[in-house]
Amino acid sequence: MQDVTISVIKAEIGGLVGTSRVHPELLEKASRLLKNAEGDLLIDSFVTHAGDELEFIMTHRNGTEDPEIHGLAWSVFLECTETAKNLRLFGAGNDMLSGGFGDNVKDTVPGSAELEFAERESEPVLIFMADKIRPGSWNYHLYRMFADPFTTPGLILDPALAGGFAFEVHDCVDGRTITLATPTESYALLAYIGAPSRYVVRRVRRRAEGEEIAAVTSDLRTDRIGGRYTGKDDPVMIVRAQDGFPATGELLEPFASPAIVAGWMRGSHHGPLMPVALYDANCTRFDGPPRVACLGFQVADGRLVGPVDMFDDPGFDRARDRCHEIADILRVHGPFEPHRLPLAELEPGALDHVEEEFGKRWKPLPR
Ligand code: 13P
Ligand code: MG
Repeated sequence: MQDVTISVIKAEIGGLVGTSRVHPELLEKASRLLKNAEGDLLIDSFVTHAGDELEFIMTHRNGTEDPEIHGLAWSVFLECTETAKNLRLFGAGNDMLSGGFGDNVKDTVPGSAELEFAERESEPVLIFMADKIRPGSWNYHLYRMFADPFTTPGLILDPALAGGFAFEVHDCVDGRTITLATPTESYALLAYIGAPSRYVVRRVRRRAEGEEIAAVTSDLRTDRIGGRYTGKDDPVMIVRAQDGFPATGELLEPFASPAIVAGWMRGSHHGPLMPVALYDANCTRFDGPPRVACLGFQVADGRLVGPVDMFDDPGFDRARDRCHEIADILRVHGPFEPHRLPLAELEPGALDHVEEEFGKRWKPLPR
């Protein structure tokens, strides 16, 4: 059987209201247009949203970074941009201002995560979609899923996992990449990925039996478009479960203890990452708090059987309550760190206007 590819491609096409969520008309239009491509380019598709991110989940046999698949996603985003402009949605078309479509969406602003594999007899897959977070936010969760036996007892109990996993890490500052193996190189791995503003886990592979792909996060290129920093925030992540990979519950467990991530208001604040059901994947309080939804599918001959809304479970109520508490504690700090991101992590030029007006008033300290 030919390999199947899952492509998750997403963009902010226009927010309702502000940056809160995606308008239902966009969801309907995108679903219809992608359904039209099924049987031709696509095997199956599912359209959803996380906050103001319009998310396309597509299966096909064209492999990763395929110009036709990416071209299809781009054209559907463009069609949706027309609707967003008609509705005068917030920031309509901002993500599409890069001046056209290159060979794939890496050349444009929509973010993508793609995973190509030979289907197992049973192929459970989880798709994590977030809003108001920055790339690198998944580092913590991926480490706990694939390298922490306190989260994933399968690392001890399942011989198929005992060989550990290999983490492909990208350095966003120096544009280099390294692959580090767990458990042997765990400390070095943590030394890097514990700084998620610079080092981002892009892929995880099982070390035993041919380095089978286990997880992929969305691409990282950041850019300034139309004078506005857009970047590739609000990343997505695809993870395979069971049979040689962590169990579904082991993959979800890291989200039961809220991690503090960068993003939230104006992309400039730390906040707790709240696991939510799809019906709660809308950002309101202080434009957040940052949130993650997760859809589970069984992939069967490329068909997406599901979805199951994985965080629609009282098992995550306590995590959500703790997120509210953490949000309250951080909000007390107002414009102070550690709620506001450290200067080096703010969007480039974020405080230039202050320096322009007040820079000349600073005088050297007397010696
Ligand atoms: P997004 O990351 O969803 O674009 O939100 C940005 C923002 O400014 C929220 O206050
Ligand atoms: Mg967003």
